[in-house]
Amino acid sequence: MAEKLLSRYEELKAQVNFHNYRYHVLDAPVISDVEYDRLLNELKQIEADHPDWIQADSPTQRAGAKPSEKFEKVRHPAPILSLANAFGADDARAWLERVKKIDDRVEKAKFVVEPKIDGLSVVLHYRDGMFVQGATRGDGEVGEDITSNLRTVRAIPLRIPVNSEKLSVKAPSYLVVRGEAFIPIKEFEELNKKLEEAGEKTYLNPRNTAAGSLRQLDPVLTASRPITLLVYQIVHAEGGNVPTSQWEILQYLKSLGFPVSDIPKRFNALDEAITYTETFQTGRNALPYEADGMVIKIDDLTLAADLGFVGKDPRGAVAFKFPAREVTTTLLGIDVEVGRTGVLTPRAQLEAVEIGGVVVRNATLHNFDYIEEKDIRIGDRVLVKRAGEVIPYVIGPVVDARSGKEKTYKPPAKCPACGQAVEHFEGEVAWYCVNAACPAQLVRNVEHFVSRGAMDIAGLGIKIVIQLIEAGMVKDVADLFTLKKEQLLELEGFAEKKAENLLGSIEQAKGQSLKRLLAALGIHGVGEVMAGDLSQTFGNLSALSKVSADELQQIDGVGPNIAASIVDWFAQPANQKLLKKLKAAGLDPQVQKAESKTQSGAFSGMTFVVTGTLPTLSRDGAKEFIESHGGKVIDSVSKKTSYLVLGENPGSKFEKAKSLGVKIIDEAELRKLAG
Ligand code: IVH
Repeated sequence: MAEKLLSRYEELKAQVNFHNYRYHVLDAPVISDVEYDRLLNELKQIEADHPDWIQADSPTQRAGAKPSEKFEKVRHPAPILSLANAFGADDARAWLERVKKIDDRVEKAKFVVEPKIDGLSVVLHYRDGMFVQGATRGDGEVGEDITSNLRTVRAIPLRIPVNSEKLSVKAPSYLVVRGEAFIPIKEFEELNKKLEEAGEKTYLNPRNTAAGSLRQLDPVLTASRPITLLVYQIVHAEGGNVPTSQWEILQYLKSLGFPVSDIPKRFNALDEAITYTETFQTGRNALPYEADGMVIKIDDLTLAADLGFVGKDPRGAVAFKFPAREVTTTLLGIDVEVGRTGVLTPRAQLEAVEIGGVVVRNATLHNFDYIEEKDIRIGDRVLVKRAGEVIPYVIGPVVDARSGKEKTYKPPAKCPACGQAVEHFEGEVAWYCVNAACPAQLVRNVEHFVSRGAMDIAGLGIKIVIQLIEAGMVKDVADLFTLKKEQLLELEGFAEKKAENLLGSIEQAKGQSLKRLLAALGIHGVGEVMAGDLSQTFGNLSALSKVSADELQQIDGVGPNIAASIVDWFAQPANQKLLKKLKAAGLDPQVQKAESKTQSGAFSGMTFVVTGTLPTLSRDGAKEFIESHGGKVIDSVSKKTSYLVLGENPGSKFEKAKSLGVKIIDEAELRKLAG
């Protein structure tokens, strides 16, 4: 009975391990999750009844005991070597020329091209087919024993075939292999998304995450990270034979059940190998994991070994590096740019560094919240990324590299260009400089001011705008209206005719409507439509400049944020000065007929609020009546309301009008007033 159960147990172990392999190594499961769970549960039940049967190769034993406070040291059975780099095809050819001189067998060499995965190099030991130890590379001689963590990596076989007569493939009794542990890009992005949703700190990049997860002391945490592995080398073998060419090693490792990349190819000539390598550089063959290059290896491992090393780099292989897209450098400082809309953008000043063949000295930091969230400090080593044509950006600090001298950054309280206090709008991340005369914004302000949807000044393109500003002739938009012909003639490219034409169109613009002028001023949240509504409701700039946020919110589409932004704009001394200058230059538009009916008539300049049911006029009828006599109808009562028109069953507006002392009339009186 017990014998039968024991063989069932062995069978279950083998099955669960097999399905793990199908799922985590081949990425091709043959049973559903439910079926898998059923097998695993049966296995767990047997182990619960017979704990003495449990061995290290049981799939239930992946996350086992924690190591004590620190990792033990492991001496590698052979040096864990590094690779020399080649930057480009010429470099790779030069490598081959060098090694040809050392050994003429190289003339006939074949080459294997493999991806160079950017992960953590690990060394796995198998004794009699059992995974007994896993270590980091360390200094190449001695690494750290991270067995407990590596056991949680499902792609690592806990057992490999060995010593059985029946097996067509079997491993030596002691086999040590090397591979690269990593997190695939997609899994990394999903992990970060999950962390973000849970309000937790996100990780910088797959490499650091994989390395960090494997080099901390809690295997349960390692198990929760989507770490996988690809194996590419036999470091040591005893008690059995292994192939002697790299190509055969890869096939052999695969047949033992190790995860092996399917990208490697073998070539008869270096140039073919280089061509294959380069296809991965262009993004045509996007790899699902981060790779910093491809490795070109001499296939004949005996020859490769005979070539010897230079330091820790074997002569028999070379890393063909891709241009890096992510590098670390020092954050020297942060300066602030005032953008086109007055938005302040922090920009990193970096110690010059090459990324993907371009020297980078600046990178964006997105916004001030980003700096705080990522805890980026001046003096930090920072990770900078440049992907495709995109502007480089700072991913975050390398916290481990801190010396303690780094300084936290405080966003500026004042605009670096004009010195005016910066503003923040509720619900937005950005900080703004709202000074319309801020020199940093002047070009874009003037450009916007003269544009078609705004003051529509023909003949005033961006080039001339810049000329005028650089010559000091235009310091704010009001200066446009006092330009003299003699001044224009001083500018390059201006002759009589051109100057006259421009002055003509500027003169014409003085007659533009309030709506256009409002839209032209570039007040945050005030586009063409809003400008139209404001001009209809308030009639002129001086009225608008005195309006309260509450009153503004009576207008359709004006919420507290836009209301605050408008009030704030008019409150700025610099903007008040600008309005005065515009007025002095002849720009003080009152609402024009085409835009509103409020211009002429008995009610011109008056505002009305209607409440309750009027005897004859409907709500719309009353509005039409008032507007046809030049008045305006607004929704809520303020001190500035001229009249409250009272009907039956009035609402709260009646009380408010009374308390504010607003004149109250009925429909008959309204008709009388209209004459
Ligand atoms: S071969 C003699 N092959 O790259 C063997 N290394 O910059 C020398 N790496 O430390 C290494 N993928 O961690 C080799 N297919 C691959 C690799 C690879 C990634 C890493 C490895 C090594 C580093 C050298």
